[in-house]
Amino acid sequence: MYEQVSHSLLNDILTGLESEIKDKNLQHFYIRLGANFYAIYSLFHQLYGHREDFKPQLHRLVRTLTRAYIARAPSLRKLDQAREKDHEWFLSQQWTGYACYCKEFAGSLKGMQKRLGYLQDLGINMLHIMPILDCPKGRSDGGYAVRDFRKINPEVGTVEDLDDLVRSMKKRGMLLVLDVVVNHTSDEHEWACKAREGDPVYQNYFHVFDDREVPDMYEESMPEVFPETSPGNFTWDPAMNKWVMTVFNHFQWDLNYRNPAVFIEMVDIILFWANHGADIIRLDAVAFLWKKIGSACQNEREAHLILQLMKDCCQVTAPGVLFIAEAIVAPVEVIKYFGEDAINAKECEIAYNATFMALLWEAIATKKTNLLNRGIRSIPDKLERATWLNYIRCHDDIGLGFDDHDIHLSGYDPRLHRHFLVDYFTGRYDSSPARGVAFGVNKKTGDARIAGSLASLAGLEAALENNDPAAVQTSLDTILLLHSMILSFGGIPLLYYGDALGTLNDTTYLEDEHKRDDSRWVHRPQLDWQRAERRLIPGTLEYRLFQSLKKMIAARKEIIAFADHNNRELIEVENPHLFVFSRFDPHGIGGRVLVVANFDAAPQALAIEPLRKRGFFHHGIVRDLLRNDNLNIPHGEDAVLEIPPLQSYWLQT
Ligand code: GLC
Ligand code: GLC
Repeated sequence: MYEQVSHSLLNDILTGLESEIKDKNLQHFYIRLGANFYAIYSLFHQLYGHREDFKPQLHRLVRTLTRAYIARAPSLRKLDQAREKDHEWFLSQQWTGYACYCKEFAGSLKGMQKRLGYLQDLGINMLHIMPILDCPKGRSDGGYAVRDFRKINPEVGTVEDLDDLVRSMKKRGMLLVLDVVVNHTSDEHEWACKAREGDPVYQNYFHVFDDREVPDMYEESMPEVFPETSPGNFTWDPAMNKWVMTVFNHFQWDLNYRNPAVFIEMVDIILFWANHGADIIRLDAVAFLWKKIGSACQNEREAHLILQLMKDCCQVTAPGVLFIAEAIVAPVEVIKYFGEDAINAKECEIAYNATFMALLWEAIATKKTNLLNRGIRSIPDKLERATWLNYIRCHDDIGLGFDDHDIHLSGYDPRLHRHFLVDYFTGRYDSSPARGVAFGVNKKTGDARIAGSLASLAGLEAALENNDPAAVQTSLDTILLLHSMILSFGGIPLLYYGDALGTLNDTTYLEDEHKRDDSRWVHRPQLDWQRAERRLIPGTLEYRLFQSLKKMIAARKEIIAFADHNNRELIEVENPHLFVFSRFDPHGIGGRVLVVANFDAAPQALAIEPLRKRGFFHHGIVRDLLRNDNLNIPHGEDAVLEIPPLQSYWLQT
């Protein structure tokens, strides 16, 4: 949009930059800057307009965008343009993601190169390499306490190694996802060090207080993220002689986005990694970006303004780059990270679907799907050009953030039900085969979360210990059922490293004093490549899992109706153990697929007639796309299709 005040300001800014932009081919940049500038100006004004330095700060922001564009490689600029043309490219069912630690998975970035073949064999074409930046040893929070946002942890390699890796990945058609930890820095970051030395400019990068007065006000309404290891949200820094806000661990200092300098630094860092070839940037802990006394300091409106502004800026310089929001919050809140008050995604194009993840685990424990069915309904439709990351496990814990009301309606008491789930997955519940570990137990509120590897939570560890082949089969079925769900539901499935091999809990973290108090390390193991070799030996459990998953992923890629365009219909069936939904191709070409999943350990009946009335099962034979097999559909009023225990079908009807 054209608007005089902002436009004349833009003219001033560009005149000031004349010497830098002379002789540069900036045509595409100018078009996008012109198109986005009014939005950038307005958002920047809403956040920082009251400040005396508003104009010089805006000037700095535009200079940052311009310099990053000038540094952007021609090949990346070309990719930007191709993606602008094909702007729904990431909604395709072709993408399958994988998250891993560089060191634990491959030793180093160079080692990663050697493992790309393994990933491609499985069908992976989007790789999230978790934080690889320089962090203090032992105080890294798994890479999320960054000491230098532009330096790669020397233990895994260098920026040049990353560039090499990106080149290979691009040739293989694989996307790279990198983290930018926007909410906080390590207390050893240069900004924190300068703050500690007393520099007021850098103290203003953080939330710093002389005494407890203001921190106490904040504490009245702020929850605790790590109640066991890092209670409270502030840490006393003796060198600075002040309190500093530390929502996560005490060594992670929260950044102060009321200061525009912080915002501009972060945009610069995002663009730095975009220019090193990241296709997608995972923005960590975005719900926490804005702090306000009297609030939970999560999901504040300004946090959304910051993200919109980040998106608008990134679109000017690197429009092909997408954002993932890591916001593990309630469905009505998470949906806003696609963009509030917007039709198209205006914040992050992709968000973790933590609700679906937790609901799937609930269905595994109860063997019933009432809460799953209800919980899914409370996820609002997403915007156009936005998609979910559907996952079963990731490097973090499983939080039981269901809606209390939904739990009630499903016939459970919310508090008791959460207790049951924690007991179930930590194996305290009698008939449970799960071997998880509690995480984040909060004695004050009674809350707890769950850590543990997929295989151990799904009963594989117990089954192997008991030398019980039937139980092994049940656990493998459970693992495959959960994958069948994330592969068909709509969104980008994100597998977690080790899960395709049935990797069990790793308790060696207990021997490490820096890890022992954080049970999430139980599911962050070193990948065992000798075990990985067994995926090629028929009969081994690694073979059974890996090859089945590989087939599932390949099948998904062929199903056009699995692309994500709000094209899912949840189907209520009477049987409380079944989860049924249909996926359809909104363009009509790809037809419809009926996904049916049985969460029970016994066979369950799916009544045919009600589905026939809804337009399914018009033929006596349907194709199961998951197994590439035909199924006979019985006829008659009371006809049922038997769904075997812990199995799912993808039925082309
Ligand atoms: C994110 C990460 C998590 C980390 C936290 C604090 O949520 O996923 O692992 O502990 O941020 O940085
Ligand atoms: C909370 C935070 C999330 C973080 C997780 C770590 O769920 O919302 O950002 O990853 O805790 O346990």
